[in-house]
Amino acid sequence: MNQRKTSGALAVLINSTSQNWLPARWKERFDTVCGDRPVVLLPDARLDPKDVHYAAVWKPVPGELKAFANLRAVFNLGAGVDALMADDSLPDVPLVRVAVPDLTNRMTEYVVLHVLMHHRQELYLRQSQREKVWEPRYQWPASAITVGVMGLGTLGADAASVLRRLGFRAAGWSRSPRTLEGITCFHGAGQIDAFLRATDILVCLLPLTPETHGILNRDVFAKLNRNSPLGAPVLINAGRGALQNEADILACLNDGTLGGVSLDVFVQEPQPAASRFWTHPKVVLTPHNAADTDADAISAYVAGQIARFEAGGALENVVDRSRGY
Ligand SMILES: NC(=O)c1ccc[n+]([C@@H]2O[C@H](COP(=O)([O-])OP(=O)(O)OC[C@H]3O[C@@H](n4cnc5c(N)ncnc54)[C@H](OP(=O)(O)O)[C@@H]3O)[C@@H](O)[C@H]2O)c1
Repeated sequence: MNQRKTSGALAVLINSTSQNWLPARWKERFDTVCGDRPVVLLPDARLDPKDVHYAAVWKPVPGELKAFANLRAVFNLGAGVDALMADDSLPDVPLVRVAVPDLTNRMTEYVVLHVLMHHRQELYLRQSQREKVWEPRYQWPASAITVGVMGLGTLGADAASVLRRLGFRAAGWSRSPRTLEGITCFHGAGQIDAFLRATDILVCLLPLTPETHGILNRDVFAKLNRNSPLGAPVLINAGRGALQNEADILACLNDGTLGGVSLDVFVQEPQPAASRFWTHPKVVLTPHNAADTDADAISAYVAGQIARFEAGGALENVVDRSRGY
């Protein structure tokens, strides 16, 4: 392996106010794992942009990265790169996304929690408790339900396989053909209808790309299986908000095309107070925290990738820009 020349600062650009993204905490973690490499939190007036060789970013302002003429790689601090891909001035260097067990496990927790919530009729049971009603309804087994996962990548494949181990029938849909033990795999536009017809609970873990934008719409919901013990199909979306047509979701909940939804992501985040999603009785809303990126796990992942790259090795989980994910 050819040694690549070491040195160069790691610039950290974080554009979020939520608790998980406190920039000072990320800088402290990167300082701990980066050895002698300078770690700078932007904006930093003392920095010469030419000294920056790597950037670790979450939703940087479009155009912010082009200031770094000697950039070698950009590390997106999450799995989804849609916010970065929207920047037309993104430098032509490898763009690396997060794919680590810590994040995968968190997402699988979310998916299992919400599949079980709908399967075990928790919305009805919580309402019954509030009303002091003791009227258990028939509970069917997990084996009576097919969970169909859209997106069989790092996250979708793991969630589907854990659901299968819990006893659900698991199906999945991806762009290219996949083979996963115990999971009925469908792919491409030609097989989506067969996938939807088999699905009782639809879980979406797709990336947001020009091809997937708005894919969760009435046409898709209307093709889901209506003959399961659930009565009406359920949608769980933890991919990105722009994958979903929100007017269609509300209309389909109101006319019974959908029986319930769990939504972690929205076109507008945070959701405005007037949004019907806060109060609709068939909606379980979470504030885009299905799978947080953990500063400890991800700073170590980025530092490990940089060390391997500088020793002449290949970067892992590089985004294919032509596909958009
Ligand atoms: N809510 C949260 O907290 C949170 C946290 C992390 C991630 N996410 C979201 O989860 C997404 C998935 O992450 P990941 O790591 O699993 O991504 P990934 O490994 O890149 O997998 C993406 C999957 O989607 C499939 N896909 C992409 N475009 C498609 C299309 N047009 N038609 C059919 N299938 C398509 C891919 O098919 P192939 O297998 O053929 O490539 C692949 O199976 C991220 O992009 C992000 O938006 C959300």
